[in-house]
Amino acid sequence: MAEQQLQNWVLMVSAQTPTNIAVIKYWGKRDEDLILAINDSISVTLDPAHLCTTTTVAVSPAFNRDRMWLNGKEISLSGGRYQNCLREIRARASDVEDENKGIKIAKNDLQNLHVHIASYNNFPTAAGLASSAAGFACLVFSLAKLMNVQEDNGKLSAIARQGSGSACRSLYGGFVKWIMGKEENGSDSIAVQLVDEKHWDELVIIIAVVSSRQKETSSTSGMRDTVETSALIERRAKEVVPKRIIQMEEAIQNRDFPTFAQLTCADSNQFHAVCMDTSPPIFYMNDTSHRVIGCVEKWNRSEGTPQVAYTFDAGPNAVLIARNRKAATLMLQRLLFHFPPNSDTDLNSYVIGDKSILKDAG
Ligand code: DP6
Repeated sequence: MAEQQLQNWVLMVSAQTPTNIAVIKYWGKRDEDLILAINDSISVTLDPAHLCTTTTVAVSPAFNRDRMWLNGKEISLSGGRYQNCLREIRARASDVEDENKGIKIAKNDLQNLHVHIASYNNFPTAAGLASSAAGFACLVFSLAKLMNVQEDNGKLSAIARQGSGSACRSLYGGFVKWIMGKEENGSDSIAVQLVDEKHWDELVIIIAVVSSRQKETSSTSGMRDTVETSALIERRAKEVVPKRIIQMEEAIQNRDFPTFAQLTCADSNQFHAVCMDTSPPIFYMNDTSHRVIGCVEKWNRSEGTPQVAYTFDAGPNAVLIARNRKAATLMLQRLLFHFPPNSDTDLNSYVIGDKSILKDAG
Protein backbone atom coordinates (compact mmCIF):
# COMPACT_ATOMS: atom_id res chain seq x y z
CA MET A 1 0.00 0.00 0.00
CA ALA A 2 2.77 2.39 1.04
CA GLU A 3 4.59 1.51 -2.15
CA GLN A 4 1.47 2.19 -4.20
CA GLN A 5 1.08 5.60 -2.61
CA LEU A 6 4.66 6.35 -3.52
CA GLN A 7 3.80 5.59 -7.14
CA ASN A 8 0.99 8.12 -7.15
CA TRP A 9 2.81 11.41 -7.06
CA VAL A 10 2.87 13.75 -10.06
CA LEU A 11 5.35 16.57 -10.56
CA MET A 12 3.89 19.23 -12.82
CA VAL A 13 4.96 22.56 -14.37
CA SER A 14 3.02 24.98 -16.59
CA ALA A 15 4.38 27.73 -18.81
CA GLN A 16 3.10 30.21 -21.38
CA THR A 17 5.11 31.26 -24.42
CA PRO A 18 4.17 33.86 -27.04
CA THR A 19 4.64 33.39 -30.72
CA ASN A 20 7.01 35.52 -32.79
CA ILE A 21 6.77 37.04 -36.24
CA ALA A 22 9.86 37.36 -38.41
CA VAL A 23 10.62 40.76 -39.93
CA ILE A 24 13.64 39.26 -41.73
CA LYS A 25 12.52 35.75 -42.63
CA TYR A 26 14.08 32.35 -42.09
CA TRP A 27 13.43 30.27 -45.19
CA GLY A 28 15.67 27.32 -46.05
CA LYS A 29 17.78 24.82 -44.10
CA ARG A 30 21.33 23.63 -44.55
CA ASP A 31 20.73 20.71 -42.16
CA GLU A 32 17.24 19.20 -41.95
CA ASP A 33 17.78 17.08 -38.82
CA LEU A 34 19.46 19.68 -36.63
CA ILE A 35 17.37 22.46 -38.22
CA LEU A 36 20.14 24.81 -39.23
CA ALA A 37 19.14 27.81 -41.34
CA ILE A 38 20.76 29.17 -44.49
CA ASN A 39 20.47 32.75 -43.21
CA ASP A 40 20.12 34.73 -39.99
CA SER A 41 16.61 36.01 -39.17
CA ILE A 42 15.09 38.66 -36.91
CA SER A 43 11.66 38.57 -35.27
CA VAL A 44 9.44 40.45 -32.88
CA THR A 45 7.87 38.49 -30.04
CA LEU A 46 4.16 39.14 -29.68
CA ASP A 47 2.18 40.01 -26.60
CA PRO A 48 1.25 36.67 -24.99
CA ALA A 49 -2.24 37.95 -24.20
CA HIS A 50 -3.49 37.11 -27.68
CA LEU A 51 -1.18 34.65 -29.43
CA CYS A 52 0.48 32.16 -27.16
CA THR A 53 0.81 28.52 -26.26
CA THR A 54 0.18 27.25 -22.74
CA THR A 55 1.81 23.94 -21.90
CA THR A 56 1.65 21.77 -18.83
CA VAL A 57 4.23 19.00 -18.48
CA ALA A 58 4.21 16.32 -15.83
CA VAL A 59 6.23 13.28 -14.77
CA SER A 60 4.99 10.49 -12.55
CA PRO A 61 5.99 6.90 -11.80
CA ALA A 62 2.38 6.08 -12.72
CA PHE A 63 2.91 7.08 -16.38
CA ASN A 64 3.90 4.14 -18.58
CA ARG A 65 4.82 6.02 -21.76
CA ASP A 66 5.43 9.55 -23.05
CA ARG A 67 2.16 11.13 -24.27
CA MET A 68 1.09 14.51 -25.63
CA TRP A 69 -2.23 16.29 -26.22
CA LEU A 70 -2.47 19.34 -28.48
CA ASN A 71 -5.64 21.41 -28.06
CA GLY A 72 -7.21 18.46 -26.25
CA LYS A 73 -6.44 15.86 -28.93
CA GLU A 74 -3.74 13.24 -28.43
CA ILE A 75 -0.91 13.46 -30.95
CA SER A 76 2.03 11.18 -31.62
CA LEU A 77 5.38 11.97 -30.04
CA SER A 78 7.21 9.57 -32.32
CA GLY A 79 8.45 12.31 -34.70
CA GLY A 80 12.15 13.12 -34.62
CA ARG A 81 11.55 16.74 -33.59
CA TYR A 82 9.75 15.85 -30.35
CA GLN A 83 12.21 13.08 -29.63
CA ASN A 84 15.18 15.41 -30.14
CA CYS A 85 13.77 17.99 -27.72
CA LEU A 86 12.90 15.37 -25.10
CA ARG A 87 16.34 13.73 -25.39
CA GLU A 88 18.23 17.03 -25.14
CA ILE A 89 16.26 18.17 -22.08
CA ARG A 90 16.49 14.81 -20.31
CA ALA A 91 20.25 14.78 -20.87
CA ARG A 92 20.50 18.07 -18.95
CA ALA A 93 18.18 17.20 -16.04
CA SER A 94 19.40 17.78 -12.51
CA ASP A 95 18.12 16.73 -9.07
CA VAL A 96 14.85 18.34 -8.03
CA GLU A 97 14.58 19.31 -4.40
CA ASP A 98 11.91 21.45 -2.78
CA GLU A 99 12.00 21.29 0.99
CA ASN A 100 8.77 23.27 1.41
CA LYS A 101 6.82 20.83 -0.73
CA GLY A 102 8.76 17.82 0.54
CA ILE A 103 9.86 16.91 -2.98
CA LYS A 104 13.17 15.20 -3.70
CA ILE A 105 13.79 13.45 -7.03
CA ALA A 106 17.22 12.36 -8.17
CA LYS A 107 18.34 13.30 -11.66
CA ASN A 108 18.57 9.64 -12.79
CA ASP A 109 15.01 8.97 -11.66
CA LEU A 110 13.76 12.05 -13.48
CA GLN A 111 15.47 10.99 -16.68
CA ASN A 112 13.79 7.59 -16.58
CA LEU A 113 10.27 8.81 -15.86
CA HIS A 114 7.72 9.18 -18.62
CA VAL A 115 6.31 12.57 -19.39
CA HIS A 116 2.77 13.75 -20.18
CA ILE A 117 2.38 17.02 -22.09
CA ALA A 118 -0.80 19.06 -22.61
CA SER A 119 -0.51 22.07 -24.90
CA TYR A 120 -3.08 24.68 -25.99
CA ASN A 121 -2.81 27.41 -28.60
CA ASN A 122 -5.11 30.40 -28.11
CA PHE A 123 -5.02 30.99 -31.89
CA PRO A 124 -5.45 28.87 -35.05
CA THR A 125 -2.88 26.07 -35.28
CA ALA A 126 -0.77 25.70 -38.46
CA ALA A 127 -2.51 28.61 -40.20
CA GLY A 128 0.69 30.54 -40.80
CA LEU A 129 0.63 32.27 -37.42
CA ALA A 130 3.82 30.62 -36.21
CA SER A 131 2.06 28.14 -33.94
CA SER A 132 5.02 25.74 -34.03
CA ALA A 133 7.26 28.57 -32.81
CA ALA A 134 5.27 29.14 -29.65
CA GLY A 135 4.58 25.42 -29.28
CA PHE A 136 8.14 24.11 -29.28
CA ALA A 137 9.50 27.07 -27.32
CA CYS A 138 6.91 26.43 -24.61
CA LEU A 139 7.52 22.69 -24.64
CA VAL A 140 11.27 23.10 -24.19
CA PHE A 141 10.89 25.85 -21.59
CA SER A 142 8.38 23.93 -19.45
CA LEU A 143 10.31 20.64 -19.70
CA ALA A 144 13.49 22.48 -18.69
CA LYS A 145 11.73 23.87 -15.61
CA LEU A 146 10.27 20.46 -14.75
CA MET A 147 13.64 18.72 -15.02
CA ASN A 148 15.52 21.53 -13.30
CA VAL A 149 17.75 22.18 -16.32
CA GLN A 150 20.36 24.79 -15.42
CA GLU A 151 21.00 26.18 -18.92
CA ASP A 152 20.45 29.79 -20.00
CA ASN A 153 17.87 30.80 -22.62
CA GLY A 154 20.50 30.79 -25.38
CA LYS A 155 21.21 27.09 -24.80
CA LEU A 156 17.49 26.34 -24.49
CA SER A 157 16.93 28.20 -27.78
CA ALA A 158 19.29 25.72 -29.50
CA ILE A 159 17.10 22.88 -28.21
CA ALA A 160 13.82 24.59 -29.21
CA ARG A 161 15.37 25.13 -32.66
CA GLN A 162 15.48 21.36 -33.09
CA GLY A 163 11.69 21.30 -32.65
CA SER A 164 11.03 24.09 -35.15
CA GLY A 165 13.51 26.65 -36.42
CA SER A 166 11.41 29.70 -35.63
CA ALA A 167 10.79 28.40 -32.08
CA CYS A 168 14.29 29.37 -30.96
CA ARG A 169 13.30 33.05 -31.24
CA SER A 170 10.30 32.70 -28.87
CA LEU A 171 12.52 32.15 -25.82
CA TYR A 172 12.96 35.93 -25.55
CA GLY A 173 10.69 38.96 -25.65
CA GLY A 174 11.32 42.10 -27.70
CA PHE A 175 13.31 41.83 -30.93
CA VAL A 176 15.27 38.62 -31.34
CA LYS A 177 17.89 37.43 -33.79
CA TRP A 178 18.47 33.79 -34.69
CA ILE A 179 22.14 33.51 -35.59
CA MET A 180 22.43 30.78 -38.20
CA GLY A 181 25.87 29.76 -36.86
CA LYS A 182 28.73 28.01 -38.60
CA GLU A 183 29.30 24.83 -36.60
CA GLU A 184 28.16 21.55 -38.15
CA ASN A 185 26.73 20.35 -34.83
CA GLY A 186 24.59 23.50 -34.50
CA SER A 187 26.10 24.55 -31.16
CA ASP A 188 26.39 28.20 -32.29
CA SER A 189 22.98 28.32 -34.00
CA ILE A 190 21.14 30.12 -31.20
CA ALA A 191 18.77 33.01 -30.58
CA VAL A 192 19.89 36.23 -28.93
CA GLN A 193 17.79 39.13 -27.70
CA LEU A 194 18.58 42.34 -29.60
CA VAL A 195 16.42 44.62 -27.43
CA ASP A 196 13.77 43.87 -24.84
CA GLU A 197 10.06 44.62 -25.15
CA LYS A 198 10.39 48.06 -23.51
CA HIS A 199 12.89 49.38 -26.06
CA TRP A 200 10.33 50.21 -28.76
CA ASP A 201 7.05 49.97 -26.93
CA GLU A 202 5.09 52.45 -29.04
CA LEU A 203 4.84 49.87 -31.86
CA VAL A 204 1.42 48.23 -32.10
CA ILE A 205 0.92 44.93 -33.88
CA ILE A 206 -2.32 44.07 -35.63
CA ILE A 207 -2.97 40.58 -36.91
CA ALA A 208 -5.51 40.53 -39.69
CA VAL A 209 -6.70 36.93 -39.74
CA VAL A 210 -7.57 36.31 -43.36
CA SER A 211 -8.04 32.59 -42.91
CA SER A 212 -7.74 30.31 -39.92
CA ARG A 213 -7.62 27.22 -42.13
CA GLN A 214 -4.51 25.03 -41.99
CA LYS A 215 -2.06 25.87 -44.75
CA GLU A 216 -1.68 23.49 -47.68
CA THR A 217 2.12 23.56 -47.83
CA SER A 218 3.89 23.29 -44.49
CA SER A 219 6.86 25.59 -43.91
CA THR A 220 9.11 22.54 -43.61
CA SER A 221 8.28 21.06 -47.00
CA GLY A 222 7.89 24.47 -48.65
CA MET A 223 11.38 25.62 -47.70
CA ARG A 224 12.86 22.26 -48.69
CA ASP A 225 11.36 22.64 -52.19
CA THR A 226 12.60 26.25 -52.38
CA VAL A 227 16.18 25.28 -51.49
CA GLU A 228 16.08 22.49 -54.07
CA THR A 229 14.48 24.36 -56.95
CA SER A 230 14.55 28.16 -56.62
CA ALA A 231 17.11 30.02 -58.72
CA LEU A 232 16.73 33.07 -56.45
CA ILE A 233 17.15 31.59 -52.97
CA GLU A 234 20.94 31.47 -52.96
CA ARG A 235 21.24 35.15 -53.77
CA ARG A 236 18.66 35.95 -51.10
CA ALA A 237 20.44 33.92 -48.41
CA LYS A 238 24.01 34.90 -49.24
CA GLU A 239 23.75 38.48 -50.48
CA VAL A 240 20.42 40.13 -49.67
CA VAL A 241 19.66 38.93 -46.15
CA PRO A 242 23.12 39.53 -44.60
CA LYS A 243 22.87 43.22 -45.62
CA ARG A 244 19.29 43.47 -44.41
CA ILE A 245 20.19 41.96 -41.04
CA ILE A 246 22.75 44.71 -40.41
CA GLN A 247 20.35 47.44 -41.55
CA MET A 248 17.48 45.99 -39.54
CA GLU A 249 19.52 45.76 -36.32
CA GLU A 250 20.47 49.41 -36.77
CA ALA A 251 16.87 50.46 -37.48
CA ILE A 252 15.68 48.66 -34.34
CA GLN A 253 18.40 50.17 -32.16
CA ASN A 254 17.56 53.68 -33.47
CA ARG A 255 13.79 53.13 -33.50
CA ASP A 256 13.95 54.23 -37.13
CA PHE A 257 10.44 53.34 -38.32
CA PRO A 258 10.77 54.30 -42.04
CA THR A 259 13.82 52.01 -42.48
CA PHE A 260 12.25 49.29 -40.33
CA ALA A 261 9.04 49.38 -42.40
CA GLN A 262 10.84 49.43 -45.73
CA LEU A 263 12.98 46.39 -44.77
CA THR A 264 10.09 44.46 -43.23
CA CYS A 265 7.82 44.85 -46.26
CA ALA A 266 10.64 44.17 -48.73
CA ASP A 267 11.71 41.04 -46.92
CA SER A 268 8.17 39.67 -46.72
CA ASN A 269 7.70 40.35 -50.43
CA GLN A 270 11.00 38.67 -51.30
CA PHE A 271 10.15 35.63 -49.19
CA HIS A 272 6.86 35.24 -51.12
CA ALA A 273 8.74 35.84 -54.38
CA VAL A 274 11.11 32.92 -53.69
CA CYS A 275 8.05 30.83 -52.80
CA MET A 276 6.62 31.61 -56.20
CA ASP A 277 10.03 30.85 -57.74
CA THR A 278 9.82 27.35 -56.25
CA SER A 279 8.80 24.34 -58.33
CA PRO A 280 5.93 23.65 -57.93
CA PRO A 281 5.22 27.28 -56.97
CA ILE A 282 3.96 27.96 -53.46
CA PHE A 283 1.22 30.54 -52.92
CA TYR A 284 0.75 31.43 -49.27
CA MET A 285 -0.96 34.78 -49.80
CA ASN A 286 -4.40 35.11 -51.39
CA ASP A 287 -6.39 37.95 -52.99
CA THR A 288 -7.34 39.37 -49.60
CA SER A 289 -3.67 39.42 -48.55
CA HIS A 290 -2.82 41.30 -51.74
CA ARG A 291 -5.59 43.80 -51.09
CA VAL A 292 -4.25 44.40 -47.57
CA ILE A 293 -0.80 45.11 -49.05
CA GLY A 294 -2.38 47.52 -51.53
CA CYS A 295 -4.26 49.29 -48.74
CA VAL A 296 -1.10 49.74 -46.60
CA GLU A 297 1.11 50.79 -49.52
CA LYS A 298 -1.44 53.39 -50.67
CA TRP A 299 -1.85 54.86 -47.19
CA ASN A 300 1.92 54.94 -46.52
CA ARG A 301 2.46 56.75 -49.82
CA SER A 302 -0.26 59.28 -49.16
CA GLU A 303 1.23 60.08 -45.72
CA GLY A 304 4.68 60.63 -47.26
CA THR A 305 6.30 58.43 -44.59
CA PRO A 306 5.43 54.85 -43.57
CA GLN A 307 2.80 54.49 -40.86
CA VAL A 308 2.49 50.72 -40.99
CA ALA A 309 4.69 47.80 -42.05
CA TYR A 310 3.21 44.53 -43.29
CA THR A 311 4.61 41.04 -43.21
CA PHE A 312 3.13 37.64 -44.13
CA ASP A 313 4.43 34.26 -43.01
CA ALA A 314 3.54 30.91 -44.56
CA GLY A 315 -0.15 31.77 -44.83
CA PRO A 316 -2.49 34.55 -45.99
CA ASN A 317 -2.77 36.33 -42.60
CA ALA A 318 -1.37 39.85 -42.43
CA VAL A 319 0.80 41.01 -39.57
CA LEU A 320 0.72 44.80 -39.53
CA ILE A 321 3.16 46.73 -37.37
CA ALA A 322 2.02 50.29 -36.77
CA ARG A 323 4.47 53.02 -35.74
CA ASN A 324 2.26 54.02 -32.81
CA ARG A 325 -1.25 53.69 -31.39
CA LYS A 326 -2.65 56.50 -33.52
CA ALA A 327 -1.41 54.83 -36.72
CA ALA A 328 -2.83 51.50 -35.51
CA THR A 329 -6.25 53.05 -34.91
CA LEU A 330 -6.27 54.68 -38.34
CA MET A 331 -5.13 51.39 -39.92
CA LEU A 332 -7.96 49.53 -38.23
CA GLN A 333 -10.45 52.11 -39.46
CA ARG A 334 -9.15 51.55 -42.98
CA LEU A 335 -9.34 47.77 -42.62
CA LEU A 336 -12.91 47.99 -41.36
CA PHE A 337 -13.82 50.29 -44.24
CA HIS A 338 -12.25 48.08 -46.94
CA PHE A 339 -13.13 44.74 -45.32
CA PRO A 340 -16.36 45.37 -43.42
CA PRO A 341 -17.49 42.65 -40.99
CA ASN A 342 -19.88 40.14 -42.56
CA SER A 343 -18.76 41.10 -46.05
CA ASP A 344 -17.67 38.45 -48.56
CA THR A 345 -13.99 38.85 -47.58
CA ASP A 346 -13.26 36.60 -44.65
CA LEU A 347 -11.01 39.06 -42.86
CA ASN A 348 -11.04 39.19 -39.08
CA SER A 349 -8.92 41.77 -37.32
CA TYR A 350 -7.15 41.59 -34.03
CA VAL A 351 -5.14 44.18 -32.20
CA ILE A 352 -2.26 42.76 -30.30
CA GLY A 353 -1.35 44.90 -27.37
CA ASP A 354 -3.62 46.16 -24.66
CA LYS A 355 -6.59 46.69 -26.98
CA SER A 356 -9.41 44.20 -27.30
CA ILE A 357 -10.13 41.88 -30.17
CA LEU A 358 -12.29 43.53 -32.81
CA LYS A 359 -13.73 40.50 -34.41
CA ASP A 360 -13.15 36.90 -33.52
CA ALA A 361 -11.23 34.56 -35.83
CA GLY A 362 -14.15 32.50 -37.11
C1 DP6 B 1 7.83 31.80 -42.89
O1 DP6 B 1 10.03 27.41 -38.15
O2 DP6 B 1 7.78 26.74 -39.08
O3 DP6 B 1 7.50 31.68 -40.55
O4 DP6 B 1 11.93 24.89 -38.94
O5 DP6 B 1 10.67 23.52 -40.60
O6 DP6 B 1 9.67 24.00 -38.34
P1 DP6 B 1 10.59 24.49 -39.45
O7 DP6 B 1 9.89 25.79 -40.05
P2 DP6 B 1 9.23 27.02 -39.32
O8 DP6 B 1 9.36 28.11 -40.47
C2 DP6 B 1 8.99 29.42 -40.29
C3 DP6 B 1 9.08 30.17 -41.55
C4 DP6 B 1 8.49 31.55 -41.55
C5 DP6 B 1 9.56 32.61 -41.38
C6 DP6 B 1 10.13 32.80 -39.99
O9 DP6 B 1 9.43 32.59 -38.99
O10 DP6 B 1 11.29 33.24 -39.93
